[in-house]
Amino acid sequence: MAILLNNNGYGNEHWQKHLQQQLPSMSLQLYPKISDVESVHYALVWNHPKRDLLNYPNLRAVFSLGAGMEHLLLDDNLPNVPLVPLLDPVVAEDMANYGLYWVTHFHRRFADYKQQQNQEIWQRLEIKLISEFKVTILGLGRIAQKLAETIQYAGYQVEAWDFKTKDFPPEPMNKIKTHAGIGQLYNAIRDRDVVINCLPMNDKTKGLINADFLSQLSTQTSLVNISRGGVVDESDLLDSLNHDAIKHAVLDVVNLEPLTANHPFWNHPKVTITPHISGSTYASSGAKVIVKNILLMENGEMPEGIYDMQRHLR
Ligand code: GLV
Repeated sequence: MAILLNNNGYGNEHWQKHLQQQLPSMSLQLYPKISDVESVHYALVWNHPKRDLLNYPNLRAVFSLGAGMEHLLLDDNLPNVPLVPLLDPVVAEDMANYGLYWVTHFHRRFADYKQQQNQEIWQRLEIKLISEFKVTILGLGRIAQKLAETIQYAGYQVEAWDFKTKDFPPEPMNKIKTHAGIGQLYNAIRDRDVVINCLPMNDKTKGLINADFLSQLSTQTSLVNISRGGVVDESDLLDSLNHDAIKHAVLDVVNLEPLTANHPFWNHPKVTITPHISGSTYASSGAKVIVKNILLMENGEMPEGIYDMQRHLR
Protein backbone atom coordinates (compact mmCIF):
# COMPACT_ATOMS: atom_id res chain seq x y z
CA MET A 1 0.00 0.00 0.00
CA ALA A 2 1.33 3.44 -0.91
CA ILE A 3 0.66 7.14 -0.50
CA LEU A 4 0.82 9.47 -3.46
CA LEU A 5 2.33 12.85 -2.53
CA ASN A 6 1.88 15.80 -4.90
CA ASN A 7 2.33 19.19 -3.27
CA ASN A 8 2.37 20.86 -6.65
CA GLY A 9 4.11 24.22 -6.70
CA TYR A 10 5.41 24.00 -3.13
CA GLY A 11 7.66 20.91 -3.27
CA ASN A 12 7.30 17.53 -1.62
CA GLU A 13 10.43 17.49 0.57
CA HIS A 14 8.97 18.77 3.87
CA TRP A 15 5.92 16.56 3.66
CA GLN A 16 8.03 13.60 2.61
CA LYS A 17 10.28 13.99 5.66
CA HIS A 18 7.46 14.31 8.16
CA LEU A 19 5.24 11.61 6.63
CA GLN A 20 8.13 9.19 6.62
CA GLN A 21 8.87 9.96 10.26
CA GLN A 22 5.23 9.45 11.21
CA LEU A 23 4.52 6.40 9.09
CA PRO A 24 7.77 4.62 8.22
CA SER A 25 5.94 1.46 7.15
CA MET A 26 4.11 3.08 4.25
CA SER A 27 5.72 3.64 0.85
CA LEU A 28 5.53 7.16 -0.56
CA GLN A 29 5.13 7.69 -4.30
CA LEU A 30 6.28 11.17 -5.23
CA TYR A 31 4.44 12.66 -8.18
CA PRO A 32 5.23 12.48 -11.09
CA LYS A 33 7.40 9.39 -10.52
CA ILE A 34 4.71 6.84 -9.71
CA SER A 35 6.12 3.36 -10.09
CA ASP A 36 2.93 1.46 -9.25
CA VAL A 37 -0.45 3.19 -9.68
CA GLU A 38 -2.30 0.17 -8.26
CA SER A 39 -0.50 0.41 -4.94
CA VAL A 40 -1.73 3.96 -4.27
CA HIS A 41 -4.47 3.92 -1.62
CA TYR A 42 -4.25 7.51 -0.39
CA ALA A 43 -3.51 10.68 -2.37
CA LEU A 44 -2.15 13.78 -0.61
CA VAL A 45 -2.41 16.66 -3.03
CA TRP A 46 -2.33 20.39 -3.59
CA ASN A 47 -3.06 21.74 -7.09
CA HIS A 48 -2.88 18.29 -8.69
CA PRO A 49 -3.21 18.10 -12.51
CA LYS A 50 -6.85 17.64 -13.51
CA ARG A 51 -7.91 14.00 -14.10
CA ASP A 52 -4.72 12.68 -12.49
CA LEU A 53 -6.61 11.22 -9.52
CA LEU A 54 -8.49 8.87 -11.87
CA ASN A 55 -5.22 7.02 -12.55
CA TYR A 56 -5.21 5.16 -9.23
CA PRO A 57 -7.76 2.33 -9.32
CA ASN A 58 -7.41 1.45 -5.63
CA LEU A 59 -7.64 4.95 -4.21
CA ARG A 60 -9.52 5.13 -0.89
CA ALA A 61 -9.33 8.85 -0.06
CA VAL A 62 -7.91 12.14 -1.22
CA PHE A 63 -6.38 14.42 1.42
CA SER A 64 -5.88 18.12 0.75
CA LEU A 65 -2.47 19.41 1.85
CA GLY A 66 -4.15 22.58 3.09
CA ALA A 67 -7.38 23.77 4.66
CA GLY A 68 -8.76 25.01 1.34
CA MET A 69 -10.52 22.58 -1.01
CA GLU A 70 -11.10 24.71 -4.09
CA HIS A 71 -7.86 23.53 -5.72
CA LEU A 72 -9.39 20.01 -5.69
CA LEU A 73 -12.84 21.08 -6.81
CA LEU A 74 -11.44 22.72 -9.95
CA ASP A 75 -11.13 19.13 -11.22
CA ASP A 76 -14.42 17.90 -12.71
CA ASN A 77 -13.08 14.35 -12.83
CA LEU A 78 -12.54 13.41 -9.23
CA PRO A 79 -12.70 9.79 -8.10
CA ASN A 80 -15.68 8.83 -5.97
CA VAL A 81 -13.80 8.61 -2.66
CA PRO A 82 -13.87 10.78 0.48
CA LEU A 83 -12.22 14.18 0.02
CA VAL A 84 -10.64 15.33 3.27
CA PRO A 85 -9.54 18.90 4.05
CA LEU A 86 -6.54 19.40 6.33
CA LEU A 87 -8.11 20.38 9.63
CA ASP A 88 -5.01 21.23 11.59
CA PRO A 89 -5.85 22.98 14.88
CA VAL A 90 -2.41 24.64 14.83
CA VAL A 91 -3.36 26.51 11.64
CA ALA A 92 -6.77 27.49 13.00
CA GLU A 93 -5.04 28.85 16.11
CA ASP A 94 -2.59 30.89 14.02
CA MET A 95 -5.47 32.35 12.02
CA ALA A 96 -7.44 33.15 15.14
CA ASN A 97 -4.44 34.95 16.63
CA TYR A 98 -3.93 36.87 13.40
CA GLY A 99 -7.56 38.02 13.61
CA LEU A 100 -7.23 38.94 17.28
CA TYR A 101 -4.08 40.93 16.52
CA TRP A 102 -5.95 43.12 14.03
CA VAL A 103 -9.00 43.51 16.24
CA THR A 104 -6.69 44.70 19.03
CA HIS A 105 -4.84 46.94 16.59
CA PHE A 106 -8.03 48.75 15.58
CA HIS A 107 -9.55 48.81 19.05
CA ARG A 108 -6.44 50.20 20.76
CA ARG A 109 -5.78 52.68 17.92
CA PHE A 110 -2.17 51.64 17.39
CA ALA A 111 -2.06 53.25 13.92
CA ASP A 112 -3.06 56.60 15.49
CA TYR A 113 -0.35 56.23 18.14
CA LYS A 114 2.22 55.57 15.42
CA GLN A 115 1.18 58.80 13.72
CA GLN A 116 1.38 60.66 17.03
CA GLN A 117 4.84 59.24 17.60
CA ASN A 118 5.94 60.51 14.19
CA GLN A 119 4.91 63.99 15.40
CA GLU A 120 6.36 63.50 18.92
CA ILE A 121 2.89 63.77 20.48
CA TRP A 122 2.30 62.15 23.89
CA GLN A 123 -1.45 61.97 24.20
CA ARG A 124 -3.95 59.35 25.28
CA LEU A 125 -6.78 58.68 22.86
CA GLU A 126 -10.29 57.62 23.74
CA ILE A 127 -11.32 54.07 23.01
CA LYS A 128 -14.49 52.02 23.41
CA LEU A 129 -14.89 49.57 26.25
CA ILE A 130 -13.70 46.19 24.99
CA SER A 131 -17.17 44.73 25.48
CA GLU A 132 -18.58 47.44 23.22
CA PHE A 133 -16.11 46.89 20.39
CA LYS A 134 -18.10 44.90 17.84
CA VAL A 135 -16.63 42.22 15.63
CA THR A 136 -18.41 40.08 13.06
CA ILE A 137 -16.92 36.90 11.67
CA LEU A 138 -18.19 35.79 8.26
CA GLY A 139 -18.26 32.00 8.36
CA LEU A 140 -19.14 29.39 10.94
CA GLY A 141 -16.71 26.69 9.85
CA ARG A 142 -13.97 25.33 12.08
CA ILE A 143 -11.50 28.14 11.49
CA ALA A 144 -14.22 30.78 11.86
CA GLN A 145 -15.36 29.16 15.11
CA LYS A 146 -11.84 29.24 16.50
CA LEU A 147 -11.56 32.88 15.48
CA ALA A 148 -14.90 33.80 17.05
CA GLU A 149 -14.03 31.94 20.24
CA THR A 150 -10.56 33.52 20.53
CA ILE A 151 -11.77 37.08 19.96
CA GLN A 152 -14.77 36.60 22.23
CA TYR A 153 -12.53 35.16 24.96
CA ALA A 154 -10.33 38.27 24.75
CA GLY A 155 -13.42 40.29 25.73
CA TYR A 156 -14.76 41.63 22.44
CA GLN A 157 -18.42 41.57 21.39
CA VAL A 158 -18.51 38.91 18.70
CA GLU A 159 -21.21 37.90 16.24
CA ALA A 160 -20.93 35.45 13.36
CA TRP A 161 -22.77 34.88 10.11
CA ASP A 162 -22.98 32.04 7.59
CA PHE A 163 -25.39 30.80 4.92
CA LYS A 164 -26.69 28.11 7.28
CA THR A 165 -26.74 27.57 11.02
CA LYS A 166 -24.41 24.95 12.42
CA ASP A 167 -24.49 22.85 15.55
CA PHE A 168 -21.90 24.10 17.96
CA PRO A 169 -20.47 22.69 21.10
CA PRO A 170 -22.40 24.52 23.85
CA GLU A 171 -19.39 26.48 25.13
CA PRO A 172 -18.17 29.05 24.21
CA MET A 173 -20.11 29.56 20.99
CA ASN A 174 -23.36 30.01 22.91
CA LYS A 175 -22.05 33.43 23.97
CA ILE A 176 -21.69 34.44 20.34
CA LYS A 177 -24.73 35.71 18.52
CA THR A 178 -25.02 33.91 15.20
CA HIS A 179 -26.94 34.95 12.09
CA ALA A 180 -27.80 32.58 9.27
CA GLY A 181 -29.00 33.04 5.71
CA ILE A 182 -28.37 35.66 3.08
CA GLY A 183 -31.34 37.70 4.38
CA GLN A 184 -29.48 38.22 7.67
CA LEU A 185 -26.12 39.15 6.16
CA TYR A 186 -26.50 42.91 6.23
CA ASN A 187 -27.89 42.84 9.79
CA ALA A 188 -24.76 40.99 10.81
CA ILE A 189 -22.32 43.50 9.35
CA ARG A 190 -24.02 46.83 9.99
CA ASP A 191 -22.54 49.06 12.69
CA ARG A 192 -19.53 46.80 13.39
CA ASP A 193 -15.98 47.88 14.18
CA VAL A 194 -14.29 44.95 12.44
CA VAL A 195 -15.62 42.41 9.94
CA ILE A 196 -13.40 39.37 9.35
CA ASN A 197 -14.02 37.23 6.30
CA CYS A 198 -13.44 33.55 6.89
CA LEU A 199 -15.79 32.13 4.23
CA PRO A 200 -14.46 29.56 1.78
CA MET A 201 -14.40 30.44 -1.90
CA ASN A 202 -17.22 28.92 -3.96
CA ASP A 203 -19.97 29.96 -6.36
CA LYS A 204 -22.02 31.43 -3.52
CA THR A 205 -19.23 33.47 -1.96
CA LYS A 206 -17.44 34.74 -5.09
CA GLY A 207 -17.68 38.54 -4.98
CA LEU A 208 -19.99 38.46 -1.94
CA ILE A 209 -18.09 41.44 -0.51
CA ASN A 210 -19.10 43.84 -3.27
CA ALA A 211 -20.28 47.46 -3.49
CA ASP A 212 -23.66 46.57 -1.97
CA PHE A 213 -22.08 44.75 0.95
CA LEU A 214 -19.50 47.49 1.51
CA SER A 215 -22.21 50.16 1.48
CA GLN A 216 -23.67 48.54 4.63
CA LEU A 217 -20.42 49.07 6.55
CA SER A 218 -19.69 52.30 8.37
CA THR A 219 -16.76 54.67 8.03
CA GLN A 220 -15.54 53.13 11.30
CA THR A 221 -15.50 49.56 10.03
CA SER A 222 -12.28 47.77 9.12
CA LEU A 223 -12.41 44.71 6.91
CA VAL A 224 -9.99 41.80 7.37
CA ASN A 225 -9.85 39.06 4.71
CA ILE A 226 -8.13 35.82 5.69
CA SER A 227 -9.91 33.31 3.45
CA ARG A 228 -9.73 33.82 -0.29
CA GLY A 229 -9.27 36.99 -2.35
CA GLY A 230 -12.11 36.10 -4.71
CA VAL A 231 -14.73 36.61 -1.98
CA VAL A 232 -13.99 40.34 -2.27
CA ASP A 233 -14.73 42.38 -5.38
CA GLU A 234 -11.43 44.22 -5.40
CA SER A 235 -12.45 47.16 -7.56
CA ASP A 236 -15.53 47.74 -5.36
CA LEU A 237 -13.29 47.60 -2.30
CA LEU A 238 -10.88 50.14 -3.80
CA ASP A 239 -13.78 52.41 -4.60
CA SER A 240 -15.08 52.18 -1.08
CA LEU A 241 -11.63 52.89 0.43
CA ASN A 242 -11.02 55.78 -1.97
CA HIS A 243 -14.30 57.34 -0.87
CA ASP A 244 -13.46 56.85 2.81
CA ALA A 245 -16.62 54.76 3.10
CA ILE A 246 -14.80 52.23 5.31
CA LYS A 247 -11.84 52.69 7.61
CA HIS A 248 -9.23 50.15 6.51
CA ALA A 249 -8.75 46.80 4.77
CA VAL A 250 -6.30 44.15 5.93
CA LEU A 251 -5.82 41.71 3.07
CA ASP A 252 -3.95 38.51 3.77
CA VAL A 253 -5.33 37.11 0.51
CA VAL A 254 -5.97 38.70 -2.87
CA ASN A 255 -7.59 37.52 -6.07
CA LEU A 256 -4.33 37.01 -7.92
CA GLU A 257 -1.43 35.91 -5.72
CA PRO A 258 1.23 37.16 -5.48
CA LEU A 259 -0.28 40.64 -5.66
CA THR A 260 0.78 42.03 -9.04
CA ALA A 261 3.38 44.79 -9.38
CA ASN A 262 1.89 48.29 -9.28
CA HIS A 263 -1.45 47.05 -7.95
CA PRO A 264 -3.15 50.03 -6.23
CA PHE A 265 -3.37 48.01 -2.98
CA TRP A 266 0.41 48.07 -2.52
CA ASN A 267 0.67 51.75 -1.64
CA HIS A 268 -2.86 52.50 -0.53
CA PRO A 269 -2.80 54.27 2.87
CA LYS A 270 -5.92 52.37 3.94
CA VAL A 271 -4.72 48.91 2.94
CA THR A 272 -2.44 46.52 4.79
CA ILE A 273 -1.15 43.55 2.81
CA THR A 274 0.32 40.35 4.22
CA PRO A 275 1.37 37.56 1.83
CA HIS A 276 -1.16 34.82 2.72
CA ILE A 277 0.43 34.05 6.07
CA SER A 278 -2.48 34.24 8.50
CA GLY A 279 -2.42 30.45 8.71
CA SER A 280 0.44 28.80 6.88
CA THR A 281 0.40 25.03 6.65
CA TYR A 282 3.11 23.24 8.64
CA ALA A 283 4.15 19.85 7.25
CA SER A 284 5.30 18.89 10.76
CA SER A 285 1.87 19.18 12.38
CA GLY A 286 -0.14 18.58 9.17
CA ALA A 287 1.54 15.19 8.64
CA LYS A 288 0.38 14.10 12.11
CA VAL A 289 -3.22 14.99 11.29
CA ILE A 290 -3.15 13.18 7.93
CA VAL A 291 -1.40 10.09 9.29
CA LYS A 292 -3.97 9.86 12.09
CA ASN A 293 -6.72 9.96 9.46
CA ILE A 294 -5.05 7.31 7.30
CA LEU A 295 -4.70 5.02 10.31
CA LEU A 296 -8.39 5.60 11.13
CA MET A 297 -9.34 4.55 7.61
CA GLU A 298 -7.08 1.53 7.80
CA ASN A 299 -9.11 0.61 10.88
CA GLY A 300 -12.36 0.89 8.96
CA GLU A 301 -13.31 4.29 10.44
CA MET A 302 -13.83 7.61 8.69
CA PRO A 303 -11.91 10.84 9.32
CA GLU A 304 -13.71 13.91 10.65
CA GLY A 305 -14.68 16.75 8.35
CA ILE A 306 -15.03 14.84 5.06
CA TYR A 307 -15.95 17.37 2.41
CA ASP A 308 -19.66 17.40 1.67
CA MET A 309 -19.90 17.87 -2.07
CA GLN A 310 -23.72 18.07 -1.92
CA ARG A 311 -23.55 20.92 0.58
CA HIS A 312 -21.09 22.70 -1.70
CA LEU A 313 -23.46 22.32 -4.67
CA ARG A 314 -26.58 23.46 -2.80
C1 GLV B 1 -4.37 28.02 2.73
O1 GLV B 1 -4.92 29.01 2.36
C2 GLV B 1 -5.00 26.72 2.83
O2 GLV B 1 -6.09 26.54 2.28
O3 GLV B 1 -4.41 25.85 3.47
